[in-house]
Amino acid sequence: MRIVSGIQTTGNLHLGNYLGAIRQWVAMQEQGDALFFLADLHSLTIAIDPAERAATTIEMAATLLAAGIDPDRAILFNQARVPAHAELCWILQGTARMGWLGRMTQWKDKAGKNRDSASVGLFTYPVLQAADILAYQATHVPVGDDQKQHLELARDIAIKFNTDFGVELFTLPEPYISPAAPRIMSLRDGSAKMSKSDPSDASRINLTDTDDMIAQKLRKARTDAEPLPATMAALADRAEARNLVTIFAALEGSAPDAVLARFEGQGFGTFKPALADLAIAVLGPIRARLVQLLDDRAAVAAVLERGAERARSLAAPTLLAAQRAVGLQV
Ligand code: TYM
Repeated sequence: MRIVSGIQTTGNLHLGNYLGAIRQWVAMQEQGDALFFLADLHSLTIAIDPAERAATTIEMAATLLAAGIDPDRAILFNQARVPAHAELCWILQGTARMGWLGRMTQWKDKAGKNRDSASVGLFTYPVLQAADILAYQATHVPVGDDQKQHLELARDIAIKFNTDFGVELFTLPEPYISPAAPRIMSLRDGSAKMSKSDPSDASRINLTDTDDMIAQKLRKARTDAEPLPATMAALADRAEARNLVTIFAALEGSAPDAVLARFEGQGFGTFKPALADLAIAVLGPIRARLVQLLDDRAAVAAVLERGAERARSLAAPTLLAAQRAVGLQV
């Protein structure tokens, strides 16, 4: 089992990243060879101040360590330090089709109506993601369900490459979307996912938020005036309420219906403080470790450097085989 996953370095990690992905990474690092990376090359598709980009990479790496990624078990690195990602991406651009990329919902959402002014990188983003995965012959890619389409594309690229060049080179990766990894929605709008790029900081709980900020954001989270019902099925039309129950269950590691069985008939005046206590109990220790780790940024950079070295040697044979398959003189 070869586990590979990444996260874009575009800001703070939030509760959606934690419950949707990172917690699964921490569990899976025990189960096989795991590589986790900060997708700093992907972050070039978004305008960020260069100094901020570099600082964010270190801060996010520290957050992953604080959340339980163990660099003695998993390989933790930043993508830019492993040139095979960009090199394989270029080779795979000969395989990926415009139509495939044009159908990606993330491209459609992010480029919006003004496609002519969107960057080329935003369009080819999923090809780099395919290279990230295929370079390591990943078998399992733990992600939140918003990444499913990109993973299907990675499989399509792998299949077409193998077929076009008559090789059995790339392993077909499986998206690993744990049932315990729900999609977490914005605290301000139950129809939008919780996201680093939402301009409203009140829409998300960052892993760097203090206990007071967590409690305040949850207190102000949008809800309705109805009491909680006995089952999730009865929350079908109450997106914000459903999201808070989903978060509660995920933080606690229980089923949403089990949470509702306890809170049935109660309003948000009771539910929100209980949720805040739980969120603080889970996230507080992560934040405390993060603060300690950020005291020594050079040590975090050293972890990334060691990870990059290991990742470079793992990616090298696959890159070489891909270069040979397409007839590059290497
Ligand atoms: P990114 O940085 O947007 O998110 C990182 C991980 O967090 C999950 N996630 C969520 N899960 C539940 N609820 C949410 N609101 C939520 N928001 C984010 C994402 O599904 C993801 O697993 N393109 C990727 C990064 C990437 C990658 C890769 C992933 C680059 N190369 C190779 C896997 C394999 C991205 O932007 O994730």
